[in-house]
Amino acid sequence: MRIILGVGGGIAAYKSASLLRLFKEAGHDVTVMPTDAAEKFVGRATWEALSGNPVSNSVFDDVESVNHVRLGQEADLVVVCPATADLLARAAAGLAGDLLTNTLLVATAPVVFVPAMHTEMWQHPATVANVATLRSRGSTVMDPAVGRLTGKDTGPGRLPEPAEIYAFITSGLADGTLKQRPTAASGSAASLATQQGTSAVSAPDAAASGFAPDAAEVVSNVPAAEPGPLAGKRVLITAGGTREPLDPVRFLGNRSSGKQGVALARAAAAAGAEVELIAAHLEVAIPDGIKSSTVETALDLREATLEAAARADVVIMAAAVADFRPSEVTDSKIKKRDDDEDPVITLVRNPDILVEIVQQRGAAGTPLIIGFAAETGDDRGDVLDYARSKLERKGCDLLVLNRVGRDLVFGQDDTEITVLARSGAEPQTHRGSKDSAAAAVIKRIVAELSG
Ligand code: CTP
Repeated sequence: MRIILGVGGGIAAYKSASLLRLFKEAGHDVTVMPTDAAEKFVGRATWEALSGNPVSNSVFDDVESVNHVRLGQEADLVVVCPATADLLARAAAGLAGDLLTNTLLVATAPVVFVPAMHTEMWQHPATVANVATLRSRGSTVMDPAVGRLTGKDTGPGRLPEPAEIYAFITSGLADGTLKQRPTAASGSAASLATQQGTSAVSAPDAAASGFAPDAAEVVSNVPAAEPGPLAGKRVLITAGGTREPLDPVRFLGNRSSGKQGVALARAAAAAGAEVELIAAHLEVAIPDGIKSSTVETALDLREATLEAAARADVVIMAAAVADFRPSEVTDSKIKKRDDDEDPVITLVRNPDILVEIVQQRGAAGTPLIIGFAAETGDDRGDVLDYARSKLERKGCDLLVLNRVGRDLVFGQDDTEITVLARSGAEPQTHRGSKDSAAAAVIKRIVAELSG
């Protein structure tokens, strides 16, 4: 396979050398494209020695070979590692000031960005929007790992270990979740521009590089995208935590960030599904291009989910639904008064939405229903025992067990899941980023649908 390894200017650039070695040991032909800033961290000689290929970051080197176009066209895979905030922004804006960003505009092969930056930069709305843009255009952006950063700080933003990146990429290529860029046939900018008789390559590219290919050239080199394994399937996903109001300013909630549900929505869309996301409270942005609606309470979620489940082929209940809600919601704020007794909150049970979807399902057995279970285990039972009995009780087809505890907690980017099947198939465990866990769940769903 011909791989382009783009390297951004961050301290994690040195880890990219290990990723390069993994690709080389697997027999791939790797061309490294460091940005100018990346060369301040790792020198060109290292990349050339490890890859066995010449290294450049300029569109003005080796001009006669038209490298700024050829390398992207010939690539079977483009990996950008580390992807800095600056590089993500330039890629999202479609700028083409160096060889790597030119290549990103030309390549139709799967593109994987592996971000690494400080937590504040990763969580900045500009970066969040850039990541969403890149994902909506068919690129894969891995979630960064959580851990020690360059300084004394820790948090999300750390580059995942090279072996994990390698495993994420190989499993994504194997199961089709890493896909080619949507092309002319699917309404990309290039096809739209061509239909309208204008240039597909916009001003910034041409201005920055002076070598921008014209629209016809881009379109003629675009192979038709393969339909994903979930093409034609309607996948309904619920995500996030419900909020149960007490009064106009207070609610009972939970720690769900919605990251796993959103990662599932992305993975299902990448597999070609028509995705509908019903979002309770989320701490992450909904990816562009995904049909979504928002709800607040378990009762709202129930109504929206039962209605949408009736037209779905697959329902994934990743939402953290409050089991109880306050029996009374006051119209005005509950005040503390010295003369009064402290208030007592009485709770009533919420309906179990997952059980109701199972009950509502037709004789044909559709939709396929996937439940989630966050379990810790205790002295009365092991996590797997609890999950097995939950699977029985709820009656869904698959149950994704999330081990909570041992620093695998809500809101983290890394997770450990075990997928249990009602058919009795051997449980499968996966540990890694929420994106890679989502890919594993989607792969299992594809297998289940194909019998
Ligand atoms: N769920 C649901 N409706 C509820 C509670 C949970 O649809 N009222 C769904 C969740 O979306 C998840 C699955 O059921 O897919 C399991 O959720 P969990 O909270 O682990 O299960 P509970 O039924 O609350 O079981 P327990 O509290 O006994 O662990």
